[in-house]
Amino acid sequence: MKQVNLDWGKLGFNYIKTDFRYVSYWKDGKWDGGKLVEDNMITISEGSPAIHYGQQCFEGLKAYRTKDGKIQLFRPDQNAKRMNNSARRLLMPEIPEEKFIDACIQVVKANEHFVPPYGTGATFYLRPYLIGVGDNLGVKPAKEYLFSVFGCPVGPYFKGGLSPVNFMVSDYDRAAPHGTGAAKVGGNYAGSLLPHEIALQRGFADCIYLDPATHTKIEEVGAANFFGITKDNKFVTPKSPSILPSITKYSLMYVAEHYLGMQVEERDVYIDNLDEFVEAGACGTAAVITPIGGIEYKGKLHVFYSQTEVGPITRKLYDTLVGIQFGDIKAPEGWIVEVK
Ligand SMILES: Cc1ncc(COP(=O)(O)O)c(C=O)c1O
Repeated sequence: MKQVNLDWGKLGFNYIKTDFRYVSYWKDGKWDGGKLVEDNMITISEGSPAIHYGQQCFEGLKAYRTKDGKIQLFRPDQNAKRMNNSARRLLMPEIPEEKFIDACIQVVKANEHFVPPYGTGATFYLRPYLIGVGDNLGVKPAKEYLFSVFGCPVGPYFKGGLSPVNFMVSDYDRAAPHGTGAAKVGGNYAGSLLPHEIALQRGFADCIYLDPATHTKIEEVGAANFFGITKDNKFVTPKSPSILPSITKYSLMYVAEHYLGMQVEERDVYIDNLDEFVEAGACGTAAVITPIGGIEYKGKLHVFYSQTEVGPITRKLYDTLVGIQFGDIKAPEGWIVEVK
């Protein structure tokens, strides 16, 4: 097979059209068999509830090229489960876990020549999505659905890679206390575009959202979860029903405890108590681990470990997680699915 010729080390997090995507339709109460297609355009009714009422959800996961040239997925079952949680929240049909994973595998295999070589730092990002389609006018669930998966080779999401970046606390909320914050639905992201833009214009990588009810606790770091390392070496990450349950964060909690022997706490993280952390980071599939240099809150920049260097614990977490994802470190049972 001919590998496409891209400057792998310089890739950002951008759309690149690859050769094949998977599509499957739900109609009359059931899914069709699904297939790979070459066309990256979709044609849907102008009345589709996905367009007007945001009846859609999506996922993000990656395929990794290992040192011996194999390709593997990282915990795709967790993405399938989360997509089905999102689907239930918006009254959309669930996708059987095997169908979800099979779709991802088919897309990776069909686009294998786009999967970046080992050692370049780049990966193949998969974007499954589920949208309510068909003729409709009133606010109600669609009668038909499209489930699709496409993929693109990607580099780092935040420009710094493993260099620390700064974030600012936003006055906006990304989710309501009993809203859709825990679901991966487009509406949450539409509402984040303006605060994100404000953060960029002010020279920050993104914004930090506080809990929508009291504005006293950290919830999310843009499209990533937050973690901090305390002076006594605990891995701490916020717990809240309006946070997106990050698969990377739950994986890091496991890595911190079982690989690095740290104590782990999932609990409230107060924005007025950042002094409890000696290091902090943003974590997610796209963000991987991005060290947080500082957080601006009420006009003051709170600096953690350093503005220029990654802290030692954050680096260990990064090396272990990425080592597992690229197959250099033995993964816990069931975390890796090889693409054969
Ligand atoms: C809002 C938000 N929080 C957190 C995450 C990180 O989740 P994960 O680690 O599953 O990619 C993402 C990305 O998926 C996200 O969009």
